Amino acid sequence: MQQILITGGAGYIGSHTAVALVNAGFEPIIIDNFSNSSKQALEGLQKILGKSVKCYEGDCNDRALMQTIFKENSIQGVIHFAASKAVGESTKIPLTYYNNNINSLLILLQTMEENGVKDIVFSSSCTVYGQPDELPVKETTPRKDAESPYGNTKRICEDILMDYIKSGAQARVVALRYFNPIGAHPSSLIGELPLGVPANLVPFVTQAGAGIREKLTVFGADFDTPDGTCIRDYIHVMDLADAHVKSIEYLAKQKDNFFDLFNVGTGNGNSVLEVIQTFEKVSGKKLNYEVGARRDGDIEKVWANTDKVTSVLGWTPEFGLEEGLKDAWNWQESLNK
Ligand SMILES: NC(=O)c1ccc[n+]([C@@H]2O[C@H](COP(=O)([O-])OP(=O)(O)OC[C@H]3O[C@@H](n4cnc5c(N)ncnc54)[C@H](O)[C@@H]3O)[C@@H](O)[C@H]2O)c1
Repeated sequence: MQQILITGGAGYIGSHTAVALVNAGFEPIIIDNFSNSSKQALEGLQKILGKSVKCYEGDCNDRALMQTIFKENSIQGVIHFAASKAVGESTKIPLTYYNNNINSLLILLQTMEENGVKDIVFSSSCTVYGQPDELPVKETTPRKDAESPYGNTKRICEDILMDYIKSGAQARVVALRYFNPIGAHPSSLIGELPLGVPANLVPFVTQAGAGIREKLTVFGADFDTPDGTCIRDYIHVMDLADAHVKSIEYLAKQKDNFFDLFNVGTGNGNSVLEVIQTFEKVSGKKLNYEVGARRDGDIEKVWANTDKVTSVLGWTPEFGLEEGLKDAWNWQESLNK
């Protein structure tokens, strides 16, 4: 069985990708420092898979540990999720973000090279497009200056990977630009575990539905969109996980010295009000919400053109907004028990 190292594999997207990898016949190996996740995710994985997933507790910036992991296993490829990801926090502690997100990639690439491991899938984000000039946004749409240190780390990491390949490195790289992941595994044994007050809409909505948050504030209803609220492309985390498996399989078929990147979204945009209404429908809960002022740095509208990921990787999303919100709500309810 081919071993795939998942950095940040105890986190939200990483844990779902571990399931998708096992289902596709791979053996995932996790490294996570649990800075933004819980060991509960490993227990959830064990219950879903009927076996445990090997996990190294430690930091991707620990060069010696990274060497040990590559020496102790026969790793075929890496999916690099580990990063700090809170946009607001990144404006307060930018050095921590640059250090964690950029150094971990550098150390990983060096360790891979030293151990003859070529394939890497990198977690990028639609944040690199900023407010794009064309919609839906294509992979060829120019990137914009980042709005936050977090967004800048994604842009810089993409540049590092492109420069690395330009240098002639014998590596094979896919960068996936995720749109807005939502939902959870249908078993509700793993899901998103936001620490503190969620900055993303859907975990806030489910917490408001559960009564953990008193009121939901819609940040602005005067945008240039049909109902005035911001539009995003919400992608089910199970579909997103599957795109990683497809990427790993795709890399294995490429010649050395290869780079490609893909949007991973549904191709549909939904407004904040549509999310609220859909949540109310699938959960049967009425949300207490009010319209407030716009939030600094929020993009008005963005959704993906998915032609490339469909035609090249053969990936299409299976789930829509309703399934995503239903699974997110079931996960929230399982946390309340
Ligand atoms: N969730 C989103 O909305 C979204 C959107 C676009 C891109 N991304 C990117 O996808 C990746 C995964 O996101 P997620 O939502 O699963 O986040 P997450 O915080 O749930 O998962 C990241 C995991 O990495 C771990 N980690 C962080 N730094 C580490 C380090 N130095 N060493 C070892 N482990 C470390 C954390 O403990 C966590 O378990 C990140 O790179 C993120 O920037 C996420």
